[in-house]
Amino acid sequence: DNDKAFYKEQIKALLKQKDAVLVAHYYTDPEIQALAEETGGCVSDSLEMARFGKEHPASTLIVAGVKFMGETAKILSPEKNVLMPTLDATCSLDVGCPISDFSAFCDAHPDHTVVVYANTSAAVKARADWVVTSSIALEIVEHLDAEGKQIIWGPDRHLGSYIAKQTGAEMLLWQGECIVHDEFKAKALRELKLQYPDAAVLVHPESPASVVEMADAVGSTSQLIKAAQTLPNDTFIVATDKGIFYKMQQAAPGKTLIEAPTGGNGAACRSCAHCPWMAMNGLKAIYTALASEQPEQHEIHVDEAERQGALVPLMRMLNFAA
Ligand code: 13P
Ligand code: SF4
Repeated sequence: DNDKAFYKEQIKALLKQKDAVLVAHYYTDPEIQALAEETGGCVSDSLEMARFGKEHPASTLIVAGVKFMGETAKILSPEKNVLMPTLDATCSLDVGCPISDFSAFCDAHPDHTVVVYANTSAAVKARADWVVTSSIALEIVEHLDAEGKQIIWGPDRHLGSYIAKQTGAEMLLWQGECIVHDEFKAKALRELKLQYPDAAVLVHPESPASVVEMADAVGSTSQLIKAAQTLPNDTFIVATDKGIFYKMQQAAPGKTLIEAPTGGNGAACRSCAHCPWMAMNGLKAIYTALASEQPEQHEIHVDEAERQGALVPLMRMLNFAA
């Protein structure tokens, strides 16, 4: 605890000294989220992280989350230094969607509009017509469908099939998944619901369809926090990364939050409702990134041609959301 207090104080001083601001995702450790808030940074979903980083006047952004979030910040603000606690924090969706294979998939369907989730590399974004996050995906696909567009969707198959079902849009789906949300189990959730019949079920749409079908609210991290705040229930069963409980409990004080079951049927879960890459973000790593005079191991670089290519669909999303 002494160490934590030391790092927190050092980070606060370094943020000022280096004209830096901390931008954190809801899935990072509560102490990082608290520090971001305390120091005038932001804690939010991936859409708001992108917007905040772009609009904030600081010359350095330190992004606590996973690599695609740092890359998105750099694509939108090339003039800023974008640092991350560790560059090893990736995402199974990003890893499962290499540019060469994805590009070939797109080439095979040249008449389709390419919509990709923000959880992708800069190169995959550069191949896309639109980038979306879970906060805005439904509206953007609705808009494209109304224009009569056929859609290629990548990489999250669960989110893609949820959106296709909701909108009726014709979508070809890349078969990727988030290792955290893919672990939520409908059978075990049904059993838990019997124990808490009055609980509302909140589900992130990266979860399997069988789990999404049981939801009282489906949405991005920020939309789920909002649902906990506004639904009248006293108890919520939450199917997303447990990092969200910190802000959700603040937003809905006095309500009981329960983790949705992972694994089940005797099978061990791989990630147990906490993203192993989000968990790599620690106070010490943030301190090290900020303290270093030559932070190569922490600095995000994006190839300039890819950056320019990725900027177009990213700006389309931000303008659509505005
Ligand atoms: P949102 O915060 O945009 O809902 O995204 C969740 C996510 O995949 C972050 O890892
Ligand atoms: Fe990727 Fe899932 Fe981790 Fe989010 S929670 S960064 S989607 S692996």
